[in-house]
Amino acid sequence: MLLDLYSTLLTRVEVRPVEYVAPVVIRPIRPDDEGKLGAFFRGLSDRSRHRRFHAVMNDLPADVLARFVRPDGCDEVALVAVMRRLGGESVIGEVRYAIIDGKTRKAEFAIAVADVAQGIGLGKRLLRGLMRRATENKVAVLYGDVLPENQAMLALAREFGFRQRRDPHDPRLLLVEKSLEAARLAV
Ligand SMILES: CC(C)(COP(=O)(O)OP(=O)(O)OC[C@H]1O[C@@H](n2cnc3c(N)ncnc32)[C@H](O)[C@@H]1OP(=O)(O)O)[C@@H](O)C(=O)NCCC(=O)NCCS
Repeated sequence: MLLDLYSTLLTRVEVRPVEYVAPVVIRPIRPDDEGKLGAFFRGLSDRSRHRRFHAVMNDLPADVLARFVRPDGCDEVALVAVMRRLGGESVIGEVRYAIIDGKTRKAEFAIAVADVAQGIGLGKRLLRGLMRRATENKVAVLYGDVLPENQAMLALAREFGFRQRRDPHDPRLLLVEKSLEAARLAV
C-alpha cells in the first residue's frame, strides 16, 4: 500500500526515483517545519488554498506560520505528511485541530493535501491520525467548516462518520462534526 502510494507520487511529481530515498511519513509538526509548511501552502492551487482557508490567501502571515508549527500537542495538534528525499523533506499534507472551547472541549480541524498528491489516500491517513490524537487528548467533538462544493472533503468526512449540517454561524458553509466521546470510552 505504502509502496503503491510512493510510486504514484513519483509518477505524479515527475521526478527520477533516485532523487527520493524514503516514502511518505506522517509525523507531528515541528518548529523547524516553518519554511517547508510555508512552501506547502504557497504551492497549493488557488482552488485548494481557497478550500482550506475559505479566503484568497497567497501567503500565510509570518506570525500565523510561526504559531502553526508550535502547537502545544494537546489542545492544539498538527500532523504533517512529509516526503523524504536526498537533501531534505517536503511537506505534502497537513492536518490540525485546535480546541475552541475549553469547557466543552470542542475542537475545530482543517486539512490540506498537495494537489499532486490528492486522491491517493493521504487525506484519509492524516485525518485518521488526527482523530486518534484528538481522542487521546479528550477532545469531545471535532468539527470543521466546509464549502458546499467541496465534495472531496464532504466525502472524506462522511467516511469517518462526521455528520453534516448547515453552519449556524455562516449559511454559506456546511459544518461537519463528530463526537469522539464513544471512541474515547472504548480506548
Ligand atoms: C479534501 C482533501 C484533504 C482530501 O484529501 P485526499 O488525500 O485527496 O483524499 P483521499 O485520497 O484520502 O480520499 C479519501 C476519501 O475522500 C473522498 N474523495 C477524495 N477525493 C474526492 C473527490 N475528488 N471527489 C469525491 N470524493 C473524493 C473519497 O471518499 C475518498 O475515499 P475512497 O478513496 O475510499 O473513495 C484534499 O482534496 C484537499 O486537500 N483539498 C483542498 C483543501 C481542502 O479542501 N481542505 C478541506 C477544508 S478543511
